[in-house]
Amino acid sequence: MERVATALSVPVADVYGVTEFYEMLYTHPVGGKVFRVCQDAPCALAGADAAMTNLCEWLRIRPGETTPDGHVTVEPVRCLGLCDRAPAALINLDRYAPLDSARPEIALNGVPSEEPLAIGGLVKLALSNVGVVDPTRLQDYASQGGLAALRQALLNMTPGRVLEEVKVSKLVGRGGAAFPTGLKWEFAARNPGPRYVICNADESEPGAFKDRVLMDGDPFRVVEGLTLACYAVGAEKGFIYVRGEHRQGYDRFSGAVRQLKASGYLGENILGTGFKCDCASSFPFADDEGRSAQLVSRRVNPLISQQQHGAGAFNGFLCSYDAFLKSFLLIDKSGYQFRRIYLTSGHFSEVGGFSLE
Ligand code: FES
Repeated sequence: MERVATALSVPVADVYGVTEFYEMLYTHPVGGKVFRVCQDAPCALAGADAAMTNLCEWLRIRPGETTPDGHVTVEPVRCLGLCDRAPAALINLDRYAPLDSARPEIALNGVPSEEPLAIGGLVKLALSNVGVVDPTRLQDYASQGGLAALRQALLNMTPGRVLEEVKVSKLVGRGGAAFPTGLKWEFAARNPGPRYVICNADESEPGAFKDRVLMDGDPFRVVEGLTLACYAVGAEKGFIYVRGEHRQGYDRFSGAVRQLKASGYLGENILGTGFKCDCASSFPFADDEGRSAQLVSRRVNPLISQQQHGAGAFNGFLCSYDAFLKSFLLIDKSGYQFRRIYLTSGHFSEVGGFSLE
């Protein structure tokens, strides 16, 4: 910690504060393989306790300990966002879900799971690309209608008009407070620049995994929605926050951003309109204010009241992942019906993400 503090010219206390805050950073040695077993309700229902007990017995250690040879650390953790594949585990950043509760040690030398995303429902708007469009190929996304909304906005609409569409649609935040998305965008647009837009793909409550389904299955559309938001509020940078546990989502976003840049949909003078915008994905572990604080290198401390305008000099605003995706739908299809995504896990006969009325 002292060496890091010296290199960054910050007090050791600041470095300590960061290491204490992030669960995936350690100040003590851990095994070459960190075996994280989810202990939250949907996983517990599917045998997570037995998996933990059997794993520890096999390794002859207790939860939280490292084997004497330093190879494996076993950690009980909270929800990994893989509730539809319970019981879930991560070995380092690789997903093993569902874990075999009777023989969890098999995962130590096994191949990470790669199960198709389970989705369904009546009318798939937000989920319509999942399982249909190859999330790793921009060409596939574009050939199935992708980027039409961004072209429409940039070539035929002013930023104010895009903002107005979002307001008129009555789209609201998806986090529970139902704050009008258009109003939030308008507040951001009124702030002095430079402005930043943050897409919150950090969900960590047990049973909540829609962001994971969308980021694994439809990363291009979220980046397109984020770029639209940047255009509407006059921001030149967008950030996507991804949980440290979702390495695949991070890789998918990074790949999407790379391809969009190479094709001229991100960067300087997009589509010859003079609009410039850059997007990047990064790992979070904080509340709204904390996410903004991280971007300006401040220590993360939860505040009693949230500020939509961001952290001090940082004129950013944050929207849920789902809202960006739906803002895309708005411009692309003029559809004002924002069906929610419902998630099932635990004792349901069908588990996954579903669009319902
Ligand atoms: S992954 Fe275990 S409860 Fe979500």
